[in-house]
Amino acid sequence: MKKQTIAVCPGSFDPVTVGHLDIIRRACGMFDRVIVVVMQNKYNKAPPMFTAYERKEMILRCIVDIENAEVDSYDGLLADYAHMKGAAAIVKGLRAVSDFEYEFQMALTNKKLNRQAETVFLTTSAENMYLSSSIVRMVGSMGGDISDFVPECIKPDIERRLTEKGAGK
Ligand code: PNS
Repeated sequence: MKKQTIAVCPGSFDPVTVGHLDIIRRACGMFDRVIVVVMQNKYNKAPPMFTAYERKEMILRCIVDIENAEVDSYDGLLADYAHMKGAAAIVKGLRAVSDFEYEFQMALTNKKLNRQAETVFLTTSAENMYLSSSIVRMVGSMGGDISDFVPECIKPDIERRLTEKGAGK
């Protein structure tokens, strides 16, 4: 049997955006199997809006139609997770030059920790250049329309959570 090329697509996904999904779909066109993995960003000091379980479940709803995509969560090092899964690639989206320095440092560290996995950067589609999970949280929390930022199927979950937190008041 032909060896499958496995890629992991890591992120905090708090919440997943249309920009993330664009990267995930494009990665699915490049690799046999893509594992989207919800992880912790230890540099992010604010507590997440959604639990890892909630983020995983929301992603699952967004990728049901993609045959070779799956979702998981992991609380340790990305390099260890990629090794555990036998991944040949770590796929990340790059929005702008400002992302590059941090992502480059992460890629070199991950390569040092796991020689088997190459980091592959996909450039964000132009229409998603500005988009991030924190933009979704910020706009949503101030009562703005997030329809263009997140998949329709998870919009009610985000609006509900923002209402619970007293957004737009
Ligand atoms: O969506 P984000 O917040 O940019 O994703 C960052 C993430 C979660 C991929 C990154 O923080 C990460 O890889 N976390 C797992 C722990 C780890 O391996 N850290 C990097 C060691 S150099």
